[in-house]
Amino acid sequence: MHNMCIPKKIDYYKKYKMKTYETLLQNNKKWAEQSVANDPNFFSRLSSIQSPEYLWIGCSDSRVPPDSITGTRPGEIFIHRNIANMVVHTDLNMLSVLQYAVEVLKVKHIIVCGHYGCGGVKAAMTKKSLGIINKWLRNIKDVYRLHEDELNALPNEEDRVNKLIELNVQEQVLNLAKTSIVQKAWKENKAPHLHGWVYGLENGLIKPIFEMPAGTHIDSIYEFDNL
Ligand code: CO
Repeated sequence: MHNMCIPKKIDYYKKYKMKTYETLLQNNKKWAEQSVANDPNFFSRLSSIQSPEYLWIGCSDSRVPPDSITGTRPGEIFIHRNIANMVVHTDLNMLSVLQYAVEVLKVKHIIVCGHYGCGGVKAAMTKKSLGIINKWLRNIKDVYRLHEDELNALPNEEDRVNKLIELNVQEQVLNLAKTSIVQKAWKENKAPHLHGWVYGLENGLIKPIFEMPAGTHIDSIYEFDNL
């Protein structure tokens, strides 16, 4: 009986194309070999210097891998991901990534990339309590309240979700511009350029929806004059 169970399990993995962790390690070996075969200096070059031009702030969703969808290679994008690609000013993790990217790596562009069908945004639009994640999603509810009239004027739930996904990306770009880290960099280096994008799960295409070139003025109450 026991022997019969094993092939069944393998069939199950094959059928649903699931990968075990061993497969990941095997793939890694192949990838490392292939990378060196294509470019003998690939790892020696990457291990000595990191100078990406881009900081990516994206959703943790497994279907939105920044490197694959932008055709970029290791070393090209500095990445921070969280649920629903948020820029929350009390998030020490995000702030540390932002400060390092802007002040040390001196990235030229920061991209906030959301995606249609985002579960985080959908959850924020319900009245369901989900535990500790409520506190994170409340930031998205705030975006909803800010744009309530525009959102409520839309005819159906799908349109409202998609619009909130776009508006949320826009608000997170604005949140970046409100940080002293970005404002100081704009004053000193005339960089970085901020971008708000939304990725489509159905067609794989990225739609740029909002941008703020370095030095863009924001509501003056947010502008620091002693940086
Ligand atoms: Co998402």
